[in-house]
Amino acid sequence: MKKISPSILDVKKDELVNYVSTLISWGVSNIHYDVMDNIFVPNVALEYKEIEKIYQKAPRHTMDIHLMVKDVLGYYEMYKNIADIITFHFEAISLDDLNSLIIRAKNDNKKLGLAIKPNTKIEKILPYIKYFSLILIMSVEPGFGGQKFIQSSYDKIFELKKYIKNNKLETILEIDGGVNLDNIKYCFDAGIDLAVVGSYLVKNFSKETIDKLLN
Ligand code: DX5
Ligand code: ZN
Repeated sequence: MKKISPSILDVKKDELVNYVSTLISWGVSNIHYDVMDNIFVPNVALEYKEIEKIYQKAPRHTMDIHLMVKDVLGYYEMYKNIADIITFHFEAISLDDLNSLIIRAKNDNKKLGLAIKPNTKIEKILPYIKYFSLILIMSVEPGFGGQKFIQSSYDKIFELKKYIKNNKLETILEIDGGVNLDNIKYCFDAGIDLAVVGSYLVKNFSKETIDKLLN
């Protein structure tokens, strides 16, 4: 089923709880939380305390945490108790750490997502897909909201969807970066299950926008 996962990166800090609660009241079930360390990407985003506050104050929802950090294992430990799914970058982690995190998450009964930057070839991650609940295709360079969607992302969606189908996997596909009303339909048609929508929704914040994005 096609769904959106609104990113709250560009929402003012004192409006976060309200923004998330309003989205949930409009029927949105997933919220995308961007976490940055100023090392893996040249920016910072939400801090743990801010996300924890939303977890405590907003109605229950699926917390989709996108780690854009180098210390993946450390941040996994920090977020595992509030996250429903924790997505980290393939480019940020050694293969040894990747393998141990897969085992750790299995023991914790925690869902994992694997993200790839626009220049990362999908062939590199194919052997690992079966261990992940979600694959996140970045359609902009990670680090900032409000960038333009990179067109070559569609080919990645097609290829990954084909691989997932051929191998009878349950992994869902998420797209993140520059998604708006003009391109979301093509993303869903290409095989996306979950589309992150950041600045477009912040600028056009209404139930009507959500209905249009999903139709
Ligand atoms: C960027 C983040 C995105 C961002 C998306 O690195 O991962 O989630 O908030 O924002 P838009 O939709 O404006 O590109
Ligand atoms: Zn994100």
